[in-house]
Formats: sequence, C-alpha cells, structure tokens
Amino acid sequence: MSKRIVIEGGKELHGEVAISGAKNAVLKLIAAALLVQDICIIHNVPDLSDVETMVELINCLGAKTKYNKITQTIEIDARNINNCTADYAYVSKMRASFNVLGALLSRCGEAKVALPGGCAIGERRVDFHIKGLQLLGANVNIENGYVIAYAENLIGADISLALPSVGATENIMLASIFADGVTRIQNAAQEPEIIDLANFLNMAGADISGAGTSEIIINGVKKGSLHGIEYSTIPDRIEAASYICALCAVGGEILVKDIIPSHLTFFLNKLQEIGVQIEAIDPYILKVKKDKVLKATNLVTQPYPGFHTDMQAPVMSVLSLADGISIITESLFENRFMQVPELRRMGANIQQENSKAIIKGVEYLTGAEVKASDLRAGASLVIAALAARGTSSISNIHHIDRGYEKLEEKFTLLGANIKRVEINENLSDNQIGNPKVMIL
Ligand code: UD1
Repeated sequence: MSKRIVIEGGKELHGEVAISGAKNAVLKLIAAALLVQDICIIHNVPDLSDVETMVELINCLGAKTKYNKITQTIEIDARNINNCTADYAYVSKMRASFNVLGALLSRCGEAKVALPGGCAIGERRVDFHIKGLQLLGANVNIENGYVIAYAENLIGADISLALPSVGATENIMLASIFADGVTRIQNAAQEPEIIDLANFLNMAGADISGAGTSEIIINGVKKGSLHGIEYSTIPDRIEAASYICALCAVGGEILVKDIIPSHLTFFLNKLQEIGVQIEAIDPYILKVKKDKVLKATNLVTQPYPGFHTDMQAPVMSVLSLADGISIITESLFENRFMQVPELRRMGANIQQENSKAIIKGVEYLTGAEVKASDLRAGASLVIAALAARGTSSISNIHHIDRGYEKLEEKFTLLGANIKRVEINENLSDNQIGNPKVMIL
C-alpha cells in the first residue's frame, strides 16, 4: 500500500490560507535549545515529519520534550544532555539534523554527528561547517561516516565563508556562543531564519549582533549562562510562496495570512512583474489575485535576499503556463530540476541545459501520475496538478509531508479538489472510486 495525493485540477482558488511556522527556522531553534540548561518553550511549531525527526533526535541526546501538536508548542528541557552522538538514522532522514554538531560541541566539548552525504538535489558538502569549527579551535576528524569533533575550549575566530551557506552560518553561530572572545562570520548567510536563530539565542542570553547582514559577530558568553525562554517561530516564507504559486498557476483570489511579506520581497516583485496583483491588507496579510495569463520571465536563484532556490520548483509550474519563453538558472544546487521530467509528463514544454531550464509556456497542463523526488519538486507537482485538466496522482508524498503542514486541508479550504488516498500497488487501476483505493 502506498499513499498518494490525488487532485482533480482546474478549480480556481478563493478564500484564505494561514501560513504555518517556518520549518527551516524551527529545526534550528530546536538544535539551539540544546545550549540552554533550562526549559525553552517554542510556539508556532508546524506539525511536520521533519519536526518529529528533530524532536526524536534531541530526545536521544538526553533532552526531555513535550510536543503538543494542537497548541503547536514544544517544551524542551535540555538540562541533562548525556549523549553527544547524532546517529545516521536521523541525519540520513533529514539534513538539518547536522545542525546539532555546533550545539553539541559547544555544550559538551565533543560531538559525533553522521555526515549527511548527498541528496536528491545535489552533493551538499559540509566542508565550510568543518573548517569553521576547526578555526574555533576544535579538533575535527571524519571516521566511519561520522564527523567527530572535540574541543576543551573553543576560542573566538574570524571565519570567512566561501559561500553564504545557511547551515554553516548556523552551525558556526551555535558553536561559538560560549567561545572565549569574539567570533566574526564574514560572508554569512542573511536569511530570515538566521535572524530568527540569533533572536532566539539572544533572548536566552547570548550576545550576537549583525544577523541578517553579511557579518555576524558573536561575543562569547559564560557556559551555562543561557536561561529558558518562550519564543515564537517566524512564518514559513517558502510555504507562503508555494500557496501564492498555486494561485498563480490556477487563477482566483486569495488572502495569504500570518506572513511577513518583507521575507518574500524578491519573489513578490517577480510575480508582480509577470502580471500577478498583490496588495498588502495589513502587515501580516497579502491579497493575491491572478485573472489573466501571466508573462514569461527569467530568473536566477541566489542566496537571500535574491530569488530563493526553494521557490524555484513551485515557480517553474507557474511559468509552464505563462505566455512566452522563461529561463530559470539554478545557481545553488547542481541537481535541483528533478521536477522537470514529471512536469513534462503533464504536458509542460521544458528543456534542461545544465543549470538552466528553458520553459516554453503551454496553454494547459493535463493530469498524470507523477512522482515527487524531493520536497520542493513535490510542491511543484501539487501546483501543476491543481492547474491541470483532469486528475493527477502524486506518489512519494513523504517528501511533501516534510515541509507542508495540513496541505490537503488548506487547499480544500481554498476550493481545490484534493485528497490523500492509500492505494494497493498490486492493482492496475488506481482511479478514485475503485474499491481498493481508500480515501484518508
Ligand atoms: C538550507 C535550507 C534549504 C535551502 C538552502 C539554501 C534548511 C534545513 N535547508 O540548506 O532549504 O535550499 O539553505 O537556501 O534550512 N555548501 C558547500 N559546503 C558547505 C556548505 C554548503 O559547498 O559546507 C554549498 C552547498 O552545496 C550549496 C550552497 O553551498 O551549493 C548553499 O548551501 P547551504 O546554504 O549550506 O544550504 P543548507 O543549509 O544545506
């Protein structure tokens, strides 16, 4: 039996959608709570499989957690961390678990964390993370697929990143919180999630300035001095962008609520440029309307504040239906066009040439059986299926569940015809209505 998302496409979207807390922020906040020898309460936590994985991981390290999915709150008591090993079982499931490396090294003076390896979207090296920890004075070795780091005392250092890596910036920040003296991260990532992490740590007693700029300065504070806090995660800008892309592909008018529009500036400007109507209703709500065929455009993915690589696949579904030829250049990951063959199966006209996808807009897409290869590629298929004529069935949906809370519920409220079903793979006919297809 396998689970699928089945979508009957072509229904305009109308109504309101509330955006959840940011996955890529909350996972790092959970790692950061390992530095606090006290109780931290994190609010606005989305109900996602990645959050569950992170909670299981820190439980395994000795933290005590209470994860209430109804109130969207996690209480973390990290007073007794008694294990410094993050097993491959966690890191292979979710790369963000590698972020416990900096936190464990800082808290315990040692850490053994499985190397994540490559993934569907590219090689995804961790050399900047390792170099950063070494510059802070840690002894770091790789043995049997694990990064093993020791440091009796971490010492502040100037660390210049070759690329503004999000994960490396976060790991170095976490490692340097209790380091002697000052750490400067140059060419740091500037993402809103980095600011959220710095705000969380500062509220708990750390001394970080410059988060959100290319230079982050961490003044080391005394080990054990961080105190428990209550903190609310920022909204998920990628989830928001995905719903806006769905609207752009399908048509209609929606209110996107509980967001911080300034986190999406580049993306929203691009959409306005191609013909989408966007209006701020209040500081946290946007009205988005699409009532005509959109124009083609070109875009290049870049570190923040540029066009976010995680929004590239959802936007590709939109441009597949735009008037003219668009070119998307993926500059961050080598292999982030996994959605292309699946979109082609739905009638999209896309040619891939190395890091460029050349998209010739078509009048309509058609429903098909397609497979999600990774989280954002999966989102792009949901968007294409919502716009397509006929029925689509998307498999491998565990990828989508990593990053989209209550996906079917939210799209149903917007008027879409979307269901999660369980299908007996041994049967040839997978249509809804078949007695072997169970609607979940
Ligand atoms: C995070 C996000 C991911 C997003 C990405 C870029 C999380 C959980 N994931 O991933 O959704 O797509 O930022 O915005 O927050 N690199 C190296 N060596 C390193 C580290 C990175 O070469 O040591 C390269 C990577 O291969 C990639 C680029 O730097 O080409 C950017 O990666 P990075 O910013 O580190 O992405 P993640 O933190 O893994």
